[in-house]
Amino acid sequence: MTTPVTTPVLMPPFEPGSYFARDILRDGEEAYVRAVHQGDQRVLSEVIRSLSPDSRYFRYLSTKHEPTNSDLSNFIETSVPRHVALVGFTLQDREEKWLGVGEFFDSECSDSAELAFAVKEAHQGRGVASMLLRHLAEIGRLAGLRSFEAFVHPHNTRMLSVFRKCGLPAHFFDDQILVRVILDL
Ligand SMILES: CC(C)(COP(=O)(O)OP(=O)(O)OC[C@H]1O[C@@H](n2cnc3c(N)ncnc32)[C@H](O)[C@@H]1OP(=O)(O)O)[C@@H](O)C(=O)NCCC(=O)NCCS
Repeated sequence: MTTPVTTPVLMPPFEPGSYFARDILRDGEEAYVRAVHQGDQRVLSEVIRSLSPDSRYFRYLSTKHEPTNSDLSNFIETSVPRHVALVGFTLQDREEKWLGVGEFFDSECSDSAELAFAVKEAHQGRGVASMLLRHLAEIGRLAGLRSFEAFVHPHNTRMLSVFRKCGLPAHFFDDQILVRVILDL
């Protein structure tokens, strides 16, 4: 197994919006992680459009085909007190080839934030979500968060596996329909 190499570049004072890092995927391919910018809605549209109906259901708990305008504006939203969205990509001829997105949001400014991920169907299983989670955890710690929370469909074994193997202390609670996951930072 390839040991991930993370080389985050953090500009002092720490500004999540300028986050950029290099990393290595499970198959050894070089990948990058950066914060999303204003105007990046197309990233989310492209990722969601690539998802199978099952994957779409796991992300939104509905089988909608397109992200709504509100999904898109929330994705690049900067007014939520703590919202950080990252895109993972490879470079081909200097052009970004998007792999997936991961974000955390904390509208109540508490010490915990909620996680969400979507990885392009063709790139699932390459460690993209695990990579994004490593970087979100790093940013979350620097932002003063103590934990992440996620609500996962019980059949979403891929997401549950990412959380189980991420190296952070993970706690799983059956919350009626969904599994509530707490990751200690
Ligand atoms: C859940 C999701 C984010 C995981 O992303 P990913 O980049 O594939 O995750 P990773 O590669 O880091 O790990 C996924 C795990 O599922 C397995 N997996 C992923 N794709 C697979 C596939 N097509 N077939 C079999 N196993 C697969 C991987 O082997 C890995 O398990 P392991 O560590 O036990 O080997 C992605 O599948 C996805 O976007 N799903 C739809 C949206 C969703 O469910 N979002 C989460 C809502 S909170």
